Amino acid sequence: MRYIENDLKDKTILITGGAGFIGSNLAFYFQNNHPDAKVVVLDSFRSGETFSNGNLKSFGHFKNLIGFRGEVISGDINDKELLLDLEINYKFDYIFHEAAISDTTALEQDLMIKTNVNAYKDLLELAIRHDANMIYASSAATYGNAESPQRVGREAPQNVYGFSKLSMDNLSREYMKECDISIVGLRYFNVYGAGEYFKNTTASMVLQFGHQLLAGKNPRLFEDSDKILRDFIYIEDIVQANVKAMQPKESGIYNVGTGKARSFQDIVDILQRELGTSLICEYIPNPFIGSYQFHTEADITTTREVLGYEPRFVMEEAIKSYVGEIKRIYDEEVK
Ligand SMILES: NC(=O)c1ccc[n+]([C@@H]2O[C@H](COP(=O)([O-])OP(=O)(O)OC[C@H]3O[C@@H](n4cnc5c(N)ncnc54)[C@H](O)[C@@H]3O)[C@@H](O)[C@H]2O)c1
Repeated sequence: MRYIENDLKDKTILITGGAGFIGSNLAFYFQNNHPDAKVVVLDSFRSGETFSNGNLKSFGHFKNLIGFRGEVISGDINDKELLLDLEINYKFDYIFHEAAISDTTALEQDLMIKTNVNAYKDLLELAIRHDANMIYASSAATYGNAESPQRVGREAPQNVYGFSKLSMDNLSREYMKECDISIVGLRYFNVYGAGEYFKNTTASMVLQFGHQLLAGKNPRLFEDSDKILRDFIYIEDIVQANVKAMQPKESGIYNVGTGKARSFQDIVDILQRELGTSLICEYIPNPFIGSYQFHTEADITTTREVLGYEPRFVMEEAIKSYVGEIKRIYDEEVK
């Protein structure tokens, strides 16, 4: 489904983090709906290097881009020479900035701030010199455990990841005051959908529960999971918000969620229905108490008004549309 009328003929789009979950979905959206646009993907891909928590430093994977016909560049957004090369050799009209340390549990504060905040500033400067629209990924992690519904302006990050995204937003506000390009920050809530498998254990619980069920294992939830609620948002609606952010009424920072919190128990119940299983749930103590979001629900009033964004998928429909892919991944990658 196409979200804007403009055919984007002769336009060049840079997608940083384009070998990751959300970035690769954007790359295919443009390839399929705006074939006249030139799409360039920049991603550091995975190298095998890990953080102290044992997770990969970057999750980009070539399999997310199989079938993509645009240009693919392997590189690090922290590499200033690479950014200079991009500035000289391309002329971008839109930059979708998805590259980041996306692991909310990573503890390396130095690299988190450098990659998520400082490199973003360099990309903003590039956007200004190219007169490109900047659309970047912020996060609901900026809110921490702030009261629901979460509203822009009431942030309380609980980890360095959330802090880094809030710093991106603060920096953006300064640039919005001083420069003419359009800058839109999108605070994604909990995203799930095709393309997330290569995020390993940081992939959504929709995929992880799906694979537990397909393996015939009892789904393992945290105690009181019927009372842990999040605004889970399907990838199709994230793509919609990004595309609509190409023509915002004004620059700004906007929540991207459904506006309706759902529980982890709901996810398991819906998956069991879709997969035809009836496994008994196991409840384990939550080890993350103190740095865990217990209730998130996006206030999407301004996202609707300024971007014309309207979530199209409730969880039941989203999981119904995703379940075939959950099974395919299980058969091809897990089994
Ligand atoms: N998935 C979610 O639920 C969610 C929620 C809120 C915000 N976000 C944000 O959305 C963006 C995309 O997230 P995602 O879920 O697709 O994660 P992802 O990890 O799949 O994608 C991020 C991509 O950035 C690449 N990358 C990491 N460091 C890089 C570097 N230094 N240089 C170049 N590329 C680098 C990775 O290889 C990866 O492909 C991120 O900024 C993330 O913080 C995601």
